[in-house]
Amino acid sequence: MRKIVGVVIALFLMYPLLVFSCSKVPHFELSRFISPETCGGCHDEIYAQWKASMHNLSHFDEIYRAAAFYHLKGLTESAAIKEAEHCVVCHTPIGYFTGFPKKVSEERDNPEKIPEIAKEGVQCDYCHSATGAYAVYNNQMKLDPGHGEANPGTKRGPFKDSQSDFHKSEYSKFHTSSEMCGVCHDVKHVVFGTKLETTYEEWKKGPYNSPDAEKRIPCQGCHMYHRPGIPATGSTERPKNPGVAAIGGPKRAHIFTHYFVGGNMAMPSLHGDKTKAKMAKERLENAAVLAIDDRNIASGKIAVVVKNVGAGHYLPTGLTDVRQMWLEVVVKDRAGRVVFSSGVADAKGYLPDGAVIFNTVFGDGKGNAVDNIAKAKEILRNHRIPPKGSVEEVIVFPANVPKHLVVRVRLLYRGASQKLVDDLLGAGKLRLPVVVMAETKKDIVL
Ligand code: HEC
Ligand code: HEC
Ligand code: HEC
Ligand code: HEC
Ligand code: HEC
Repeated sequence: MRKIVGVVIALFLMYPLLVFSCSKVPHFELSRFISPETCGGCHDEIYAQWKASMHNLSHFDEIYRAAAFYHLKGLTESAAIKEAEHCVVCHTPIGYFTGFPKKVSEERDNPEKIPEIAKEGVQCDYCHSATGAYAVYNNQMKLDPGHGEANPGTKRGPFKDSQSDFHKSEYSKFHTSSEMCGVCHDVKHVVFGTKLETTYEEWKKGPYNSPDAEKRIPCQGCHMYHRPGIPATGSTERPKNPGVAAIGGPKRAHIFTHYFVGGNMAMPSLHGDKTKAKMAKERLENAAVLAIDDRNIASGKIAVVVKNVGAGHYLPTGLTDVRQMWLEVVVKDRAGRVVFSSGVADAKGYLPDGAVIFNTVFGDGKGNAVDNIAKAKEILRNHRIPPKGSVEEVIVFPANVPKHLVVRVRLLYRGASQKLVDDLLGAGKLRLPVVVMAETKKDIVL
């Protein structure tokens, strides 16, 4: 009897939680969402910018798909399977919220059942039907879509006086804030709660989130000012982009751009867009600076200081267990002979042991590293550079230091280790481009 009472009380106490967690996964009819091509009929420039962006490619992204299918293999623990199946909530959001695919395995086994609109990834009508968020992680977006093209409903955005013959318009403070982005750009393990991606949290706790609204630079303040030749980072100008938001629309002081470029060069290029790779390169080249401190060179040590001057979050951010940002150090003597090196990739593009890498390593809860995030119960290492902050790396020479040396240090970036890409896609399938984010050289005479 006592047990039954206990269970009843427990259920009673859990009731709000159960209702809340159910209310977090609303269901919408697919016919309510509108294809991006339709929006593009009037919003032609915005459509062209968004096309082949990582938002448009979030479902098709070959590296994502290979990783998602790979992560599912061989899992036995139900908590891990739950996480591994959940990727679609962000990568194929309209599919998830309209019923198919609800799981990665459904996507893998029945790709022909995925609706075309869902394949378009994070798209116009998804973002512009948003009214807020239940919580700012794991895509817990509150949505209020219209009813298809015949009755498109309200599209929300930055204007207070916007009018269109096609849809109703409404000003939305949410769309001007970082929370809008944080809904998907903070990722937690669905069962273990391990923080897998923390871009929004990093920004929220960082210097760009000024308490003074005038000085605050939200995600949009950099990423939606970015256009070719204007990387719009923390270390470069972020000039306004005057123009029109739609064909025949009024002239506006600023039109938020929709390229959504981060560091990914490979995917947009693979899908036929060369502009975004150039833009990603420009972005990465304005993110960090390097300095060499040779005060302790006599005892065989040099310090390299890496400063994050351009990113509104840590460097790197997002998928930091996969992204590869590292220091390449080459020391030559006067005759040009290499006397020391670290982080120099081999012919296959693989890094040697001992390279200085800025990343995150997840663990299984017992201190062993795991490469499948579905098994991530803890964070074993989180070595990255905070916004406007710096990290000092001390490099120790193994042998005696020559009298005259030339030290060259480069900060390099690529979307993943080449080994991971070879494992996922097959050797030789895709060589990831490496970007020189920063470089410095010093002539030292002892
Ligand atoms: C028939 C043309 C047309 C189509 C199709 C169209 N729009 Fe618009 N939209 C406009 C015009 C015109 C404006 C007004 C622009 C302005 O105020 O500067 C506008 C404004 C907007 C705004 C700004 C709202 C605000 O208050 O800030 C958003 C967001 C928007 N549209 C999203 C969409 C989306 C998403 C789609 C596709 C589902 C779409 N539009 C389809 C013509 C169109
Ligand atoms: C990831 C979410 C997201 C996606 C996808 C997206 N937008 Fe936007 N869009 C925004 C946000 C956020 C703003 C306003 C930024 C601000 O005010 O800080 C905006 C602004 C706009 C505006 C107002 C004019 C401007 O650019 O400032 C229009 C019109 C618009 N979007 C149309 C579209 C269309 C059409 C598509 C698809 C081709 C699209 N959006 C895709 C988030 C998105
Ligand atoms: C519905 C979920 C969702 C929302 C909302 C969202 N994003 Fe994203 N975003 C994604 C996903 C998923 C990817 C990665 C796709 C991939 O790599 O396969 C991504 C990728 C990006 C990238 C490219 C990263 C790279 O490595 O190049 C940038 C930049 C970005 N988002 C910025 C934003 C900004 C700014 C906002 C807010 C205006 C925003 N996102 C809102 C889901 C979202
Ligand atoms: C002060 C400018 C600035 C602000 C604000 C900013 N970013 Fe960035 N972002 C950058 C720069 C520079 C890079 C390129 C360096 C890098 O890849 O980390 C970048 C890269 C990214 C990437 C790709 C990271 C990777 O390497 O895979 C994503 C995703 C992203 N930003 C999302 C966001 C989101 C979401 C917000 C708001 C919570 C935001 N950014 C705020 C400047 C900014
Ligand atoms: C809460 C939203 C969310 C969920 C859930 C999610 N992702 Fe992502 N994913 C993102 C965002 C945002 C990015 C872009 C971050 C960046 O660029 O660093 C991304 C990027 C990626 C990329 C990088 C692709 C590339 O081309 O470099 C891979 C791989 C990936 N995700 C795999 C997964 C897998 C596997 C799962 C499920 C186990 C998953 N994601 C679940 C939001 C999500």
